[in-house]
Amino acid sequence: MLAGKRIVLGVTGGIAAYKSVELCRRLIDAGAHVVPVMTAGAERFLGTTTLSALASEPVRTRLWDDPETPIPHTKLGQNADLVLVAPATARIIGAYAAGLSTDLLTNVLLATRAPVVVCPAMHTEMWEHPAVVDNVATLRARGVHVVDPESGRLAGGDVGAGRLASPESIVAAVEAVLAPGDLTGQRVVVSAGGTREPIDAVRVLANRSSGKQGYALAAEAAARGAAVTLVSTVDLPTPGGVELVPVETADEMKSAMDRLAPTADVVVMAAAVADFRPADPSDGKLKKRDGVPVISLEPTPDILAGLGAAKPDGQVLVGFAAETDDLAANAAEKLDAKRLDLIVANDVSAPETGFAHDTNAVTILAPDSPACTVPLADKRTIAAAVFDRVVQIRSGG
Ligand code: PMT
Repeated sequence: MLAGKRIVLGVTGGIAAYKSVELCRRLIDAGAHVVPVMTAGAERFLGTTTLSALASEPVRTRLWDDPETPIPHTKLGQNADLVLVAPATARIIGAYAAGLSTDLLTNVLLATRAPVVVCPAMHTEMWEHPAVVDNVATLRARGVHVVDPESGRLAGGDVGAGRLASPESIVAAVEAVLAPGDLTGQRVVVSAGGTREPIDAVRVLANRSSGKQGYALAAEAAARGAAVTLVSTVDLPTPGGVELVPVETADEMKSAMDRLAPTADVVVMAAAVADFRPADPSDGKLKKRDGVPVISLEPTPDILAGLGAAKPDGQVLVGFAAETDDLAANAAEKLDAKRLDLIVANDVSAPETGFAHDTNAVTILAPDSPACTVPLADKRTIAAAVFDRVVQIRSGG
């Protein structure tokens, strides 16, 4: 999503300036070209060396002494796909709202036509001051995207509203601003992770799914404007703006999906649901001294087949197929049997593909359409390819 996007990261003088380092790293990891600009205040909290080392270009701090770019305020702003200010102090918010160009960052903000994302961070008293409230409202009214601060621990031991939003929320906001917005207003439900079926009070029958592919799908749908609910068995950071429904077993996942799917526009089952579970799990812990237990298994409900049978008109239902051989033929059988609109087949025996990896390679199949192959890529890129196809189907393609 952020691959190749040029982002000016403005850092201003608050204690949260140190968090801009993590933010910069995450933007770089997502493929962005990050150009850092620090105010004099930010330099008091954070030297320029760290951000210069992590970002795509050295930190810029001054209007006047850059030999390569004699007019950095116009060039940086004109070339940016997005300007992000994190953290943004009351001073920078006030100067930007008033149209004052007092340093390089305020000059960039006034000279750019790119979208601007501002992430305030300050003490509660300052955040709630009527002047700051008015300035933030002015920026919002002009189309600036404001990522509200969170409540929590502040500098000096204070607690309250004003803590810089989490890096995940800020990156999600940046992605949402740059995304095509082609799922705006749509409800998307995604399942992620492997179900865990109890054997006894302490042991479970599980599988290798890490949830990474499901979380990437949820993050991608949210970035494209959808209202996303993620039904998950794993404990990964929830993507910004996504509602989480934690579950553990196939039965719990089925209840959640059956409740959420009827009103969804798009349903994606990326979870690895156990096909079998212990038929008679023990309430207590099975004792070693009683010898090796015999565990008989029974089938779990096929959640996706149930969703396919009850699919409302217009809904796009997407399944995944974890295969080790005859990828396309096996996936095509599941596409048909479960009455799906799309199936995303991954060869989980191939290198760097499927369970637990950061990358995947898939073949996307739809009824009566040629298969489309997405070569090895990070799971977010795979998610983008899946939703490109979903959007095509929803617009009649
Ligand atoms: O989580 P990661 O580590 O990132 O790994 C990603 C993944 C490999 C888990 C993912 O890409 C994937 O392939 N998910 C589906 C795994 C799977 O269960 O495949 P399957 O071929 O057994 O099932 C086909 C479809 O039916 C799946 O959409 C599955 O969610 C669904 N199913 C299966 C069994 C069952 N009882 N109920 C179901 O709904």
